[in-house]
Amino acid sequence: MRDFLDLGALPRAEVLELLALARRLQERPEPAALAGRILGLLFFNPSLRTLASMQAAMARLGGQSFVITPGSGSWQLETRAGAVMAGAAAEHIREAIPVLESYCDALGVRAFAEGRDLAADLAERGFTAIADLCHKPLINLESAMNHPCQALADWKTIDELGVPRQAKFVLAWVNHPRALPLAVPAAALTMAAQRGMQVVVLRPPGFAMPAPLLQRAGALAAAAGGSVTETDDRAAALAGAQVLYAKEWGSTAHYGDAEADTRLRAALGDWMVRDSCFATTAPDCRLLHCLPVRRNVAVADEVLDGPRSAVRQEAANRLYAQMAVLHRLLATR
Ligand code: CP
Repeated sequence: MRDFLDLGALPRAEVLELLALARRLQERPEPAALAGRILGLLFFNPSLRTLASMQAAMARLGGQSFVITPGSGSWQLETRAGAVMAGAAAEHIREAIPVLESYCDALGVRAFAEGRDLAADLAERGFTAIADLCHKPLINLESAMNHPCQALADWKTIDELGVPRQAKFVLAWVNHPRALPLAVPAAALTMAAQRGMQVVVLRPPGFAMPAPLLQRAGALAAAAGGSVTETDDRAAALAGAQVLYAKEWGSTAHYGDAEADTRLRAALGDWMVRDSCFATTAPDCRLLHCLPVRRNVAVADEVLDGPRSAVRQEAANRLYAQMAVLHRLLATR
C-alpha cells in the first residue's frame, strides 16, 4: 500500500489486515515504530477528530507531525489551474505541495467538495489536482466523495459491536441547516457494502445517492455476499436494522443550488433520529454517526445520551485505524 486514498479500492483481505493491525496496536502499543518519521497535514477545511487523531496517532507511534491550514496562519492557496492570482491566494498548490512534501515522509490532505458541479466532485477533480503533485505517500483526510479514515474506523467499530457480517445496515439521511458533502455517506456506503452487509440507503425524495456511488457499492456488496438498495420508506428500511448510520447530506437533485436545497429540507424536520426510530429495528440496533452532529436536529439527545449510541467509540477508533494506516505506510520504509 503506497497511499491511503480509498478504502473501496483495497482488496477486502488488505482491509482485514489493516483492521487486525489496528487491534494489535490498540492492545500492544509500538511507541517507537515511526521514530524519526514526519507526517505533514494540510487542512483546507475545519476538523476536530481528523486533525487531533492524526497528530495523536503519529505521536503514539513515536513520529511527529506539522499542520498547515491555508488562510489561517499560512498563505491562502490557489488550486485552480491557470488561475490569474490577483485575489486572496498568495501561493499555488503547484509550489506548495512539492515544498510541503519535501519536509515530511507522508502527507495527509483534507479538501472538501466544491459543491457546485456533481460530475466534477464525483470525479474528485480537486483532490486529484493535489494528489498529482504529491510523490510521497498520501492520505485522504476527506475529499469530495470519500473519507477512508472514517470508513476504516467505522468498520472496526461495527466489528467490536459484534454485528454479523450480513446484518442490515441502514444509512439514514438526517436533517441539517444546510447542504453537507457526500464524502461520509459515500464512504460509509462503500464500507458497509465491502464488509458484505445488507445495505439500505434511506433518504427522502431529492436526496438520492448518485448512481455511480450506488453501482460501485452494489458491485462491492455482491462480491462480499451482501446487497445495496435505496428507499424513502422509513418503516420498511428500519425494520430489522442492526446498524443505523445517521448522516446529513445535500440534495443531489439540486446539487449546488443552496436555495432549492433549503426549500426541500424545510419540510423534512422530522427526519431526525429519535428513540421511536428503533421500535422495529433489531433489539440491539446501534447508532453510528461520524460527528460532528447537531443535537436535536440530526439526532435527539435521548439517542445520543442513551445506550444505543456508539458515536464516541466510533470517534475513538479513528486513532487506532489511522495508527494502522500510518504504520503500514511508513514503518517499513
Ligand atoms: N468525522 C470527522 O471527520 O470529524 P472531523 O470533521 O471533526 O475531523
